[in-house]
Amino acid sequence: MNIQEEKIQALVDRRAGAKLGGGEKRIDAQHAKNKLTARERLARLLDEGSFEEFDMFVQHRCTNFGMDANHIDGDGVVTGQGTIDGRLVFVFAQDFTVNGGSLSKTMSEKICKVMDMAVKVGAPVIGLNDSGGARIQEGIDSLAGYGDIFERNILASGVVPQISLIMGPCAGGAVYSPALTDFTLMVKDTSYMFLTGPAVVKSVTGETVTQEELGGAGVHSSKSGVAHFSADSEDDAIAQIKKLLSFLPQNNMETAPLRPTNDPVGRMDDSLNSIVPDNPNKAYDMYGIIRSVVDDGDFFEVHKNFAKNIIVGFAHMGGRSVGVVANQPGVLAGVLDINASRKAARFVRFCDAFNIPLLTLVDVPGFLCGTQQEYGAIITNGAKLLYAYGEATVPKVTVTLRKSYGGAHIVMSCKQLRGDINYAWPSAEIAVMGAKGAVGVLKDVTEEEYNELFCNPYQAAQKGYIEDVIEPRNTRFRAIRAFEVLAGKRQEVPAKKHDNMPL
Ligand code: HXC
Repeated sequence: MNIQEEKIQALVDRRAGAKLGGGEKRIDAQHAKNKLTARERLARLLDEGSFEEFDMFVQHRCTNFGMDANHIDGDGVVTGQGTIDGRLVFVFAQDFTVNGGSLSKTMSEKICKVMDMAVKVGAPVIGLNDSGGARIQEGIDSLAGYGDIFERNILASGVVPQISLIMGPCAGGAVYSPALTDFTLMVKDTSYMFLTGPAVVKSVTGETVTQEELGGAGVHSSKSGVAHFSADSEDDAIAQIKKLLSFLPQNNMETAPLRPTNDPVGRMDDSLNSIVPDNPNKAYDMYGIIRSVVDDGDFFEVHKNFAKNIIVGFAHMGGRSVGVVANQPGVLAGVLDINASRKAARFVRFCDAFNIPLLTLVDVPGFLCGTQQEYGAIITNGAKLLYAYGEATVPKVTVTLRKSYGGAHIVMSCKQLRGDINYAWPSAEIAVMGAKGAVGVLKDVTEEEYNELFCNPYQAAQKGYIEDVIEPRNTRFRAIRAFEVLAGKRQEVPAKKHDNMPL
């Protein structure tokens, strides 16, 4: 071997060393926990051969507690860029085999570097989290590292999509980086998120809980809403993220890619003409309606198990990516409560930030009343959804299927909130309230009289508050044509530093 060959061999060896992370034993331990390593995860997430790693030789600079004798090339995070379905993404994957993936200052610098590049070139950032949190030996440096990442999350928000996969521990202040991103996915049984673990909870509040009960995927995807998705396995998680990306643009200056379809734009579905039951208190299958109107029946739901009284998710219509928001009459009669309002507001804002048009399907009896909701600030939380729809400038197409009463009517993308094209089915009831409530107040009016006058779409149609009353079976065609018409929409908002939405 000549000198140059020796140098090249040294590079090859050093790369191989870095790729082993914390070494075989720790890799085995990771596998024994049903978890993949950082590099194995990236290999599955990214297109084959597309990954380019950055900062493979970066080392931490800590000398406390013997850390000067504990150096692994790359430290506890693998970062770089690659493609998913041919589209550029920036990634970081915390490596639990290196000091439990705990965050050193240099690791944060690696993460910030890919985030900065992502914003500079306009591509999504995907973070794979599996870490014991702040690296204790580094003290305040590690906390500063988290601060740097949080600031990047905030600056990148609304510029490039940010996605967090939780594939192991994520505790303490570390949870706030995923919380600042657009979507969080947790893997069942192997990941958790909480501010403090069960032992601290026990000593502070006396409560006895398991990790899973406190912050597992089940809890956060159904009770708290912290996680938008939960996955049965790491492979399932990665498949879900790839699917999610297929609906998103690369950044806020682009639109999502078109997805060609053979599903005819004018496909009618006669079953929709009879789907709304005669009895206004009976539910029907809102999912069936969504699948019927979107391309190929393909609906990708967000927050599936959280606040089920409202449905949100992505689909394509005529090849265009759209965000769908629909009240769910089958759960709590589709009423808007605190969680439903928060869930839909965040989704509407994401779609608006990333140029994804909104299809809203309305069947809402109103806001949920009572002390629990009032004490939990349904006023402020309901206002979030109102605000989100009212500020959104993406094309907004609304179809009222049945009930659309009172404040909830206004909130659900009505005309006055700059709804662009609003349709109603003949079964629509666009009114201040339902007949029962109304006759309780107006003593000399009968339910029949009230129904006759108000519980239909025609009062709204007469006044131009909706564009048309349409046949249910033709909803797909009408909505797609509306989105086509609106494709060139431009709408200005008054200049301001930023808004002050009710939080
Ligand atoms: C340094 C850490 C570490 C940390 C784990 N390790 N967490 N090293 N700083 N925060 C090391 C362990 O010492 C161990 O090293 C190796 O990683 C693997 O950890 P184990 O404990 O053996 O693994 P496991 O049994 O799976 O337990 C994982 C764990 C546990 C539950 C995450 O390690 C743990 O409780 N870690 C501390 C968590 C924590 O309190 N972090 C600070 C949170 S506060 P060796 O060499 O022995 O194998 C925080 C503030 C953020 O993060 C603030 C942001 C603003």
